[in-house]
Amino acid sequence: MKALFLVGGMGTRLRPLTNKIPKPMVPIMGKPLLERSILNLKNVGIDEVVLSTCYRAQYIQRHFGDGERFGMKIHHVKEDIPLGTGGAIKNAEEYFDDTFLIFNSDILSDIDLRELIKYHREKAADVTIAVTQVDNPSMYGVIEYDENDYAISFKEKPQPHEITSNFINAGVYVFEPKVLEEIPAGRAVSVEREVFPQLLEKGYKIAVYKGCSYWIDIGTPEKYLQAHIDIMAGKCRVSGLDLSGKGIYKGQGSDIHSSVKIQGPVYIGANVKIEENASIGPNAIIGNNVHIGRGAKIVGSVIWDDVVVENGAKLVNTIVASNCRIKQGCEHYRTVYAEEDSRTMAI
Ligand code: GDD
Ligand code: MG
Repeated sequence: MKALFLVGGMGTRLRPLTNKIPKPMVPIMGKPLLERSILNLKNVGIDEVVLSTCYRAQYIQRHFGDGERFGMKIHHVKEDIPLGTGGAIKNAEEYFDDTFLIFNSDILSDIDLRELIKYHREKAADVTIAVTQVDNPSMYGVIEYDENDYAISFKEKPQPHEITSNFINAGVYVFEPKVLEEIPAGRAVSVEREVFPQLLEKGYKIAVYKGCSYWIDIGTPEKYLQAHIDIMAGKCRVSGLDLSGKGIYKGQGSDIHSSVKIQGPVYIGANVKIEENASIGPNAIIGNNVHIGRGAKIVGSVIWDDVVVENGAKLVNTIVASNCRIKQGCEHYRTVYAEEDSRTMAI
């Protein structure tokens, strides 16, 4: 089986973190989300992937190449102008002649893909959509379904009075290739607003799968931060990460002064230097090649790679993008901080 990742979105809601990198490449516990998602496929025997790119396609092309480095076969299909989610799927048609998976690429979940595929076959569906429950569906695609768990209506980004269910499209689909014939070519198409409703009208069977135990979209800074806190709390498992031992993970080559106060859960990447009397955690995620000065304090925050936090600076519920320098004594609360830009988070 092959999989398609939709990776062409602009990531507007994550700015300024996405000023320089596409949204699917933001690090989750030190590794790009898209890389984590692709590597997860290997566990279910999928080793061929198509990446549908648009915004900052070069960045993704450079990181993944032909996939050899990851033991995968990776194809890139680039759009010069955004074709929307449906147009992007149609544009990759040549790669798919059998049942295949599609993923939005700003999703962190522990969905069991084997179960999803089994379910799709049991339901003899043309499309299966994973759904999940959220408190406020207005940012998502609401899906109503019948007593046999087949979709009966779709409402994308509903107004408050249009919210008829709190089950939403979780951005993971199983598709039969014949469905591709129903998507118009050569123009922008939304799979959620246009393709799914039309498939229903034409009598295709769209099953809904309710098996996600953990699910979050990392499309806003608040959710991005929450995803990390959830991982640190053990709510979502991330492969290759052992937070046992008071929930403290230390990468290779880290140099932490004996006076530093560390309160787990804490993740410290490789080649990190932390100086005297700094205070780290709880919920501090520190990337690679980061230097934290004397007496600095980091709580509830995610710091990307190659960052310098000068002496006495304080970061609380803050995200710092790569290559930033937090000046001596500066304090940031609920801030998203990139080299050229910053904004306050609504948490
Ligand atoms: N190639 C390509 N071209 N990819 C695109 C394009 C495009 O024009 N537009 C969006 N994408 C990709 C994005 O990168 C993302 O991975 C995915 O398609 C969905 O786009 P978002 O912009 O993240 O959509 P959303 O979050 O508003 O809504 C979608 O996701 C929700 C779940 O998080 C919808 O599928 C909703 O129905 C769903 O509930
Ligand atoms: Mg999204």
